[in-house]
Amino acid sequence: MAKGYFITLEGIDGCGKSTQAKLLYQHLQTKGCRVLLTREPGGTDLAEEIRRVILTPGKEELDPMAEILLYAASRAQHVNYLIKPALEAGQVVVSERFVHSSLAYQGYGLGWDLKLIRDINSLATGDIQPDLIFLLDSTPETSGKRVAKRSKINGHNTDRIEMRGLSFQDRVRTGFLKLAQEDPSIILINTAGKSINAVFLEITGILSEKLNI
Ligand code: TYD
Repeated sequence: MAKGYFITLEGIDGCGKSTQAKLLYQHLQTKGCRVLLTREPGGTDLAEEIRRVILTPGKEELDPMAEILLYAASRAQHVNYLIKPALEAGQVVVSERFVHSSLAYQGYGLGWDLKLIRDINSLATGDIQPDLIFLLDSTPETSGKRVAKRSKINGHNTDRIEMRGLSFQDRVRTGFLKLAQEDPSIILINTAGKSINAVFLEITGILSEKLNI
């Protein structure tokens, strides 16, 4: 039985989750928690290699079932070699993305059966569940502008998923919102018109209720 606490941040591309994840990491550290900040796809060396395979556009198209399985393979590495050991050692784990990204992107975005994705992921993760999931909701238009700006500033090349465009991101967003409606463990944070600090205050407010810190 894990002794730690598992927090995930979810949302469409450019929703601001990386910024909030970093702030959350620092906040938890200042509160005296031992924290692991990690991300998906990726998190371990091997899982980061799988990330590169999934996201780097190439001559050959990525088969959609291969895509689902590669995300799940990366997740199995991540869970078994990083997340579980950290939780067992009593750490707070903050992960940018987890299974809900596969449900939203490959399920709602690409149209694959949600039960199939849940089953594959329950095999990959041994059914480990986050204790708390923050869904940062933002429109594809606002998020798309952030992704474009980031690309300009740090030369980040548009990846395979970002290349799918606004209507894909819109289906993914609708998917995330449906998942949040059905699952009370997902905390929906509406980021529209809010500053980074205002969003962060909402996150820490909820965290102090749940973790008493
Ligand atoms: P992410 O690292 O959040 O993107 P960014 O480089 O913008 O910070 O995630 C990479 C992409 O992978 C993103 O478009 C979402 C996608 N993704 C899925 O489609 N399914 C998944 O299960 C996961 C974890 C990510």
